[in-house]
Amino acid sequence: MGSLLDWLFHFPPLLWGLEQTEDIVIKALKHGKVPQHVAFVMDGNRRWARKHRVETIEGHSLGFEALKNLLRVCLKMGVKEVSAFAFSIENFKRSKYEVDALMDIVKNSLTQITAHGDMVDQYGIRIRIVGDLNRLKPDVYEAVVKVVESTKNNTRATLNVCFPYTSRHEISHSVQNIVRLAEDEKIVPEDIDEGLFEKNLLLNDSLPLDWLIRTSGVERLSDFLMWQVHEDSEISFIDNYWPDFSVWRFFPMLIRYQLQSQQDA
Ligand SMILES: *[C@@H]1O[C@H](CO)[C@@H](O)[C@H](O)[C@H]1NC(C)=O
Ligand SMILES: *[C@@H]1O[C@H](CO)[C@@H](O)[C@H](O)[C@H]1NC(C)=O
Repeated sequence: MGSLLDWLFHFPPLLWGLEQTEDIVIKALKHGKVPQHVAFVMDGNRRWARKHRVETIEGHSLGFEALKNLLRVCLKMGVKEVSAFAFSIENFKRSKYEVDALMDIVKNSLTQITAHGDMVDQYGIRIRIVGDLNRLKPDVYEAVVKVVESTKNNTRATLNVCFPYTSRHEISHSVQNIVRLAEDEKIVPEDIDEGLFEKNLLLNDSLPLDWLIRTSGVERLSDFLMWQVHEDSEISFIDNYWPDFSVWRFFPMLIRYQLQSQQDA
């Protein structure tokens, strides 16, 4: 069953044109269970670049194209929240050249995504940049603030760009907030429960995480959404490098996700 599904989608159908076919598939998928919150670990840009003998930056840049395509499919299907691991705090250990270039790519992608008439308007997305924003260069920070500010009233869907993010940092952030609340005598220790903790995370006001997908064959969480992964979160690891993760690779996974949740129901 699994391999037949993959085979069916292996050759993006050319009969009716890509976009029409995409819409037909999405229409069908909407009848099944649609995950509310999907998270992607965008892994494999560097290895993709090495394999194709191009600059690392090209891999990152195609990576953001891949994210845009997957985001479009998620939004058309009715997914309410998408979280993307764009940049780990750990990545600051890489070369300055690569860090700067990646920052620029994120900045440009954000500007592009929010350009008038693009996806943000079309689908009413609120964009949140989730992470240790103090570490951003001033020009990137400025772009971030602009994007967040200009989309904050949108309510149909949320895109969380996790950048520069780690779960450990997020969890420490919550603890700091809570200690401050206690110091200000706004809470007593008995008030501290899961709900209060969650409210003080960087991903406050988020839907439960239904599905986490990581590419490039690495089977680790790598300090991503460790609090948010709960007892019912599906986790999928696929072999494709992130830039090769096309909507045609995603569709059979979605069908399998729906079949699986039918069995579980
Ligand atoms: C968002 O809503 C608030 C309150 O209604 C309003 O003052 C603000 O201008 C809106 N912002 C944008 C970007 O639409
Ligand atoms: C809620 O999330 C936003 C975006 O990540 C963050 O800026 C804000 O500090 C968070 N709120 C609290 C109380 O931590």
